[in-house]
Amino acid sequence: MILVTGSAGFIGANFVLDWLAGGDEPVLSLDQLTYAGNLENLASLEADPRHTFVHGDIGDTALVARLLAAHRPRAVLNFAAESHVDRSIHGPEDFIQTNVVGTFRLLEAVRAYWSGLPEADQAAFRFLHVSTDEVYGSLAPGAPAFTEAHACAPNSPYSASKAASDHLVRAWHHTYGLPVLTTNCSNNYGPFHFPEKLIPLMIVNALVGKPLPVYGDGQQVRDWLYVKDHCSAIRRVLQAGTPGETYNVGGWNEMPNIDIVHTVCALLDELRPKADGSRYAAQISYVKDRPGHDRRYAIDARKIERELGWKPAETFASGIRKTVRWYLDHPDWVAHVQSGAYREWVQTQYAA
Ligand code: NAD
Ligand code: TYD
Repeated sequence: MILVTGSAGFIGANFVLDWLAGGDEPVLSLDQLTYAGNLENLASLEADPRHTFVHGDIGDTALVARLLAAHRPRAVLNFAAESHVDRSIHGPEDFIQTNVVGTFRLLEAVRAYWSGLPEADQAAFRFLHVSTDEVYGSLAPGAPAFTEAHACAPNSPYSASKAASDHLVRAWHHTYGLPVLTTNCSNNYGPFHFPEKLIPLMIVNALVGKPLPVYGDGQQVRDWLYVKDHCSAIRRVLQAGTPGETYNVGGWNEMPNIDIVHTVCALLDELRPKADGSRYAAQISYVKDRPGHDRRYAIDARKIERELGWKPAETFASGIRKTVRWYLDHPDWVAHVQSGAYREWVQTQYAA
């Protein structure tokens, strides 16, 4: 079996659902259920004997040690993190706690468990750390995309805390021999994405007639990857990646934010036209920029393609259409995540 942390979040939940749809190897899920963790994402597995959910913190060494001893996973996949840049600007503490201290404690618990395994199981064991392209910092227009050799230059509390966790993972391999793998992926989009991130926020706001807040001039560039492609990349790295290596994962799809927002608006015009005939794009509202906003991220994903034969299956056109449809088809999911905590956050972020 495998242990998946952060499994009730956006990418972790997609990963667990896809994993169990594609095979029968059981999954032990560990998630602290922060504002971003939502058990509804895993509701379809409620009666599935292949899935066990545990509510807990990756930084709880005793709990993690107990789980490892009892379930004896062959791999640990670490998705658990505080993940929202804007939240990290308002309050960096949780990011240091989970992304840095939590990853450290998880690594220590895993190292203790791994050291006690028989030699063959030790060699086969993997610790896969899920990270982000944001650790590389910002690219100038026209500069080559990030390769795995690009220096770390994180600019936000979020990316700095993820870079710190990547360094810890690397050191646990180099110093202790723990068989680790790290993936650094570009921006994901798709089902179960919490509606405070760009794409789901635009869909959800558009449908209720609210402004669509575009930071600064909207010309910041991100490389967007459909979440299920990210999940397939992680499965491939787990299966065939070389311990100690990092793999960049991306969609070869650089787009300025404003183009993303226009694409979402055009799809909504087609799939859920407004009764009065007006266009969703009329709701676009330029707002104050994010402090220290990285201008451009771009991933060079040639290593994972060359060495492991992975490339994305989805184009942006097909992935964004599926995503918009998913939000239109799941109004209850949207209503439930828009709880009190979510509303407070929106007030803090967009008050100005
Ligand atoms: P998310 O915020 O949607 O989910 C994070 C999950 O981790 C939540 O379920 C939360 O409850 C859980 N969690 C937080 N702190 C925890 C702790 N201390 N112990 C146990 N569980 C805890 O994030 P996501 O978008 O699904 O991202 C998952 C991972 O992928 C993160 O490590 C993130 O840095 C990385 N990543 C995300 C993107 C993206 O575009 N979303 C891109 C590249 C990499
Ligand atoms: P986000 O989804 O927060 O991901 P990240 O900051 O990790 O890339 O934001 C994606 C881009 O969209 C980023 O450049 C910030 C921008 N953005 C807006 O313009 N308006 C918004 O309301 C949000 C949430 C993001």
